[in-house]
Amino acid sequence: MSGVHDKEMARKKQLKKGFLIVFEGIDGAGKTTQARLAQSALEARSYRCMFLREPTDGPYGQRIRALARKGRFTLTPMEEFELFIEDRKEDVSKNISPALAQKKIVLIDRYYYSSIAYQGALGLDKDFIQRENEKIAPRPDLIFYLNMPVELGRERICTNRQDRLTLFEEHDYLERVKANFDALQDPEIIPIDATQSEEQIHTEIMKHIGDLILKNL
Ligand code: TYD
Repeated sequence: MSGVHDKEMARKKQLKKGFLIVFEGIDGAGKTTQARLAQSALEARSYRCMFLREPTDGPYGQRIRALARKGRFTLTPMEEFELFIEDRKEDVSKNISPALAQKKIVLIDRYYYSSIAYQGALGLDKDFIQRENEKIAPRPDLIFYLNMPVELGRERICTNRQDRLTLFEEHDYLERVKANFDALQDPEIIPIDATQSEEQIHTEIMKHIGDLILKNL
């Protein structure tokens, strides 16, 4: 190992364990922005972080995005679920587990709570989705659920997608997705009012991450 590398490592804060921190919510809720802001703030304090997102940029994630661009997925709900599972399995083995083993703070933009909410809204059993995911994916230390009304999320993304569903049905679908997010019962879930300003949300998030780090010193 080079001396430069050793010095670099010495400057970084060493944690006793890695942390997995998840950002969830409907489209337009600000997950990516907040995950990136948290990453910058933590890196500025010398913590070693990794930013990830699902669907990933790997082969399964790319397939999911290509299918989504064609409109709503043309797969059955179960096929769709399996594609997200394959993508996640790869993310866990290639990125998440190694980063946690290196005691990094992993910040992930969507995780298996999105499967519970989105594939659950297509009619799959939510307990089944959770069980199958917990067989292959490490449990997070914190889950920020950025909660905002569906209409506001839509306004924010202003999409022009040519979806197969009518606008009304799509709205109806997203309301079911939101209801599934609202109903999540995980003790690690922290609901955040995502209609607040970016800065207010960031402050709230950093307080929770700070508490998590302190508890584990
Ligand atoms: P999204 O985060 O919106 O990607 P991008 O910002 O690149 O468009 O994810 C794409 C869609 O995938 C989103 O509408 C939610 C959906 N999704 C699921 O249905 N199940 C899952 O398990 C995940 C991770 C995402």
